[in-house]
Amino acid sequence: MIRNKMKIGSFNIRSRIVMPPVATYQSTADGKVTEQMIRYYKERAANSNVGMIITEHSYISLQGKAKEKQLSVSSDDDIEGLTRLTEEIHKNGVAAMAQVNHAGSAALTSATGMKAVSASNVILPTDPVMGDGIEPDVLSKDEIQKVISDFAAAAGRAKKAGYDGVEIHSAHAYLLNQFYSPLTNKRTDEYGGSLDNRLRIHREVIRAVRNEVGEDYTIAVRLGGCDYMDGGSTIEDSVYAARVLEEEGVDLIDVSGGMCRYILKGHDEPGYFREMSMAIKNAVKIPVLLTGGIKILADADALLNEGAADLIGVGRELLKDAKWEVCNVL
Ligand SMILES: Cc1cc2nc3c(=O)[nH]c(=O)nc-3n(C[C@H](O)[C@H](O)[C@H](O)COP(=O)(O)O)c2cc1C
Repeated sequence: MIRNKMKIGSFNIRSRIVMPPVATYQSTADGKVTEQMIRYYKERAANSNVGMIITEHSYISLQGKAKEKQLSVSSDDDIEGLTRLTEEIHKNGVAAMAQVNHAGSAALTSATGMKAVSASNVILPTDPVMGDGIEPDVLSKDEIQKVISDFAAAAGRAKKAGYDGVEIHSAHAYLLNQFYSPLTNKRTDEYGGSLDNRLRIHREVIRAVRNEVGEDYTIAVRLGGCDYMDGGSTIEDSVYAARVLEEEGVDLIDVSGGMCRYILKGHDEPGYFREMSMAIKNAVKIPVLLTGGIKILADADALLNEGAADLIGVGRELLKDAKWEVCNVL
């Protein structure tokens, strides 16, 4: 099944194996692409198992920067380096998507000198606490509109840089996930409370991004669908959210964890988020990507065959070894 071609929105991929975003923090201090980074992605695009690379999370504004040397898509000056990156990935017939992110309360304020912001003034329940662990400022409605337009502008830059699509990051306890999770969203206005309200910003971001990139361009959302924590978001919520995303015209749902981030404590079996991905896959028609714990091609194939997802992400194995499973043809 791995070699069955697949259409994701406006483009086709040659294999169902995806390199999900894995931050390498090899950029310059101001977030520009480096030669080292180009080499790193070029080596992974040369792996014949890989159909698509979603490059590492890139910040849409300085306020949303998560780490030093993180990749930036916050300025038009970033487009030149990103263009070189997509060209190298494309040379091997591999599709490229950009992951656009705002870190919210997980931002590295000590490096940027800016205040951390979030849906509410709640310290993240992640273990360990991300960012500087400072209580964030609550975003006003005007500031939310600014975040939305920053997402749209970043997506426009990704398109100009030659990416085949853009992935909006709403997982792993970053800003959009902070709006989605009831653990971090305590707002009493229309952006908080019910699940529909906690998804309002997602709808608005998707509409603004769509408006910027046009109809014929692929939009994915990485959905931190379930927190796996008491009082947090549930698999049921993730199914509802996936339907909302599909309704808004999203082309791909990339399933991952919420406040638990990309790891599920006590689990390292292949596809540890598969209960969630399967529930989502059964509820939507658009492709679903499952990542987490997949170490060999045979496991990826088994998950595809059992209907856990349409695409399989392989993160840490490809991080460690650009030639992952190249001698193991399935
Ligand atoms: C070092 C490292 C950096 C990561 N960076 C990102 C990132 O930038 N964006 C993202 O959505 N997930 C990120 N992840 C999560 C991965 O995409 C993936 O979901 C996770 O590694 C689980 O998959 P795996 O078991 O195949 O490694 C990162 C994971 C690791 C280990």
